[in-house]
Amino acid sequence: MDLHLTGRTAVVTGASRGIGLATAERLTEEGARVLGVARRSTPELDKVADEVVTADLARPEGADAVADALEGWAPAGIDVLVNNAGGIVSGGPDPAHLGGFATISDTAWQATLDLNLLSAVRVTRVLIDALLRRRGVIVNVSSIGARMAHPPVDYGAAKAAMTNLTKALSEEYAPRGMRAVTVSPGPTRTGNWTDPASMAGDLAHREGLELDEFLARLPGEMGISTGRLAEPEETAATIAFLASPHAANITGIDVVVDGGVLKTV
Ligand SMILES: NC(=O)c1ccc[n+]([C@@H]2O[C@H](COP(=O)([O-])OP(=O)(O)OC[C@H]3O[C@@H](n4cnc5c(N)ncnc54)[C@H](OP(=O)(O)O)[C@@H]3O)[C@@H](O)[C@H]2O)c1
Repeated sequence: MDLHLTGRTAVVTGASRGIGLATAERLTEEGARVLGVARRSTPELDKVADEVVTADLARPEGADAVADALEGWAPAGIDVLVNNAGGIVSGGPDPAHLGGFATISDTAWQATLDLNLLSAVRVTRVLIDALLRRRGVIVNVSSIGARMAHPPVDYGAAKAAMTNLTKALSEEYAPRGMRAVTVSPGPTRTGNWTDPASMAGDLAHREGLELDEFLARLPGEMGISTGRLAEPEETAATIAFLASPHAANITGIDVVVDGGVLKTV
């Protein structure tokens, strides 16, 4: 199916690896011009992106760097914004905050909110005029953590806020032709699961398991009905469809790509 994205302009944050890189690759394959953002580029992103901006989006000035780059890159505006940068903030002895709510400091809360909520708020704010000019679409990458009472609770709360914000954006801007949706991944095979230095590595270590063994048990323990983690390309395909004109009358929804982890309707 031709997604009719040829010649469209797309900004993808967190584009250097994982779901963001897969999204940049898919949008490029579909003919879009992609501006990718990350703190550091990668050879894979350099290969696929039309333009790369290196910026820390957990800081307010990160969004300004994206806006500055856009002036020359897409003066007519942008068609697609994928706010994908995010994740469980690593560092510290308990990245999943298994110690519970009371162990999460203000500093940790702020870092989580900066990365998973305020980065998208700030990038959206500086790009909103550019999006409105093209009657564009925002795809915010949330998480099933937005709907589950599950550690780390700061991450789930930040993603729940992102999902709520996206609905509000869809309502406010629909009359002006702009759409906004969330895509909520479940466990997806990125470095967050496959890197021994990731949170998954820490969880495996706590259970006395090798990472491979931990990952083999994960579908059963998390109730992934399909029996496997999602691949980043599968999530990217969903994002690309929602960003395309085929989804022109879809706004304000949350599309879950989790292999059936969520059991409620
Ligand atoms: N993988 C999963 O199982 C899963 C499940 C649910 C939701 N999600 C969500 O899906 C999104 C992508 O996850 P992923 O697993 O693909 O992540 P990933 O592989 O860790 O990639 C994260 C991307 O974001 C960038 N990034 C991180 N911090 C940044 C910052 N401060 N400023 C700018 N860019 C930053 C990273 O590049 P740099 O480090 O170079 O900046 C990288 O490009 C996240 O929002 C995550 O919360 C993932």
